[in-house]
Amino acid sequence: MAIFGLGSGGHSAKVGLDIGTRYIKMVHIVPTSARLQLANVGFAATPIGSITDGVINNADAIGEAIYQILKVYNFKEKRVVCSLPGRAVVIRQVSLPVGLSDKELKVAAIGEVERFLPFPLDEMEYDYEVLGEIKQGDVKQTSVLFVAAHREAVQRRVEAAHIGGVESVEIDVDPFVMLRSVVEASLFDDQDTFTQTFLLLDLGASASSVSILKNGILRFTRIFGTGGDTLTHAIESGFGAEYLDSERLKKEKGLAFIDEESEFIEIDDETRDVYELIRPHIENLALEIRRSLAYYTSKYRGENVTKIIITGGGSYLKGIARYFEDDLGIPAVHANPLKNMVYIGNESPERVAALVPYMSVAAGLSLRQAPPKIIGRHCLRVSIEPNYEFGSTTQAGNLSA
Ligand SMILES: Nc1ncnc2c1ncn2[C@@H]1O[C@H](COP(=O)(O)OP(=O)(O)OP(=O)(O)O)[C@@H](O)[C@H]1O
Ligand SMILES: [Mg+2]
Repeated sequence: MAIFGLGSGGHSAKVGLDIGTRYIKMVHIVPTSARLQLANVGFAATPIGSITDGVINNADAIGEAIYQILKVYNFKEKRVVCSLPGRAVVIRQVSLPVGLSDKELKVAAIGEVERFLPFPLDEMEYDYEVLGEIKQGDVKQTSVLFVAAHREAVQRRVEAAHIGGVESVEIDVDPFVMLRSVVEASLFDDQDTFTQTFLLLDLGASASSVSILKNGILRFTRIFGTGGDTLTHAIESGFGAEYLDSERLKKEKGLAFIDEESEFIEIDDETRDVYELIRPHIENLALEIRRSLAYYTSKYRGENVTKIIITGGGSYLKGIARYFEDDLGIPAVHANPLKNMVYIGNESPERVAALVPYMSVAAGLSLRQAPPKIIGRHCLRVSIEPNYEFGSTTQAGNLSA
């Protein structure tokens, strides 16, 4: 079994386990031919300090948190799929001569990417997939997507899940995973958006990512080291406050957008102070997004992004969609990765609805195992452009502790 499971599909529904820097999320989707059933949703804070730069450094603490989620939310299914964050993997598209055998393709792909790897190849897990043919001048080439991560970074995720009491673990890669829930499943009844050129923005805690898709084809992904934590740290240093107090203040008072023209809005001093501390970092994020947009329109001449879809815990920040809409001049909406699913669990639907922005990756992981025939009834499929480009401004797979 390919470790990163690119393009794979199993035959039974497993639990998606998203081990994030700040929150651990679990989703169990049970697809039937009639509908996508959302069987369970679990959630807990990640023990502070147990993940650094996307890599687990305390598998015991994470394992204990996973154990608690399985117990508290009464997960019956104990097989999980988890993923590596984009910042912990190296993803490269390479162009190779056509007509190579599988073995030759592998050797040639490794030859192309090896010098870009942050660790020796024998310390890494890797996988590759043929994306299709591309033309370079008059020459046809085979386009291959190569994905690699440090073995220990992979093993620590597997170890944490096992400590948590799961029966089996499979590994996938974040930037592709959330496309299943946010694009394939949730845009099924919104084909207008699916066929547009849109930008998917994931605002995590330690990083954010931008993906641009056109007509269901993923063309571009970029990861930035700015996330919700950047805003919290700005409040920490501005107020000289502890992390947890700053985090609470951000959630209670944080605003990404203040309509200065509105006579109806009264802003208290603390809200204004928080705003002034976090605003430069939001502007910085918008600048990064603008760079991605400019790059995209220069590569695909004349094609403009017509919508921004925002997900991740950072998208809870009040006014964030309005801010991007205003700053970038493109309509921005919040993603709903659970939109086309029927909740059949025992929690209150309001509680599940309140967790939606967190669940894109976990839902995408659980969908991975859905049988292709059933999934075809509820999802539009995304493919990866043979000229796909992945970029990251953060170093892949730093190992600490
Ligand atoms: N109401 C809110 N206002 C602002 N930010 C919020 C709010 N609620 C949650 N967040 C932020 O969301 C972030 C967590 O989101 P998420 O769970 O998507 O990240 P993660 O998956 O743990 O991190 P990463 O993907 O970077 O490893 C935190 O930075 C948190 O402060
Ligand atoms: Mg995340």
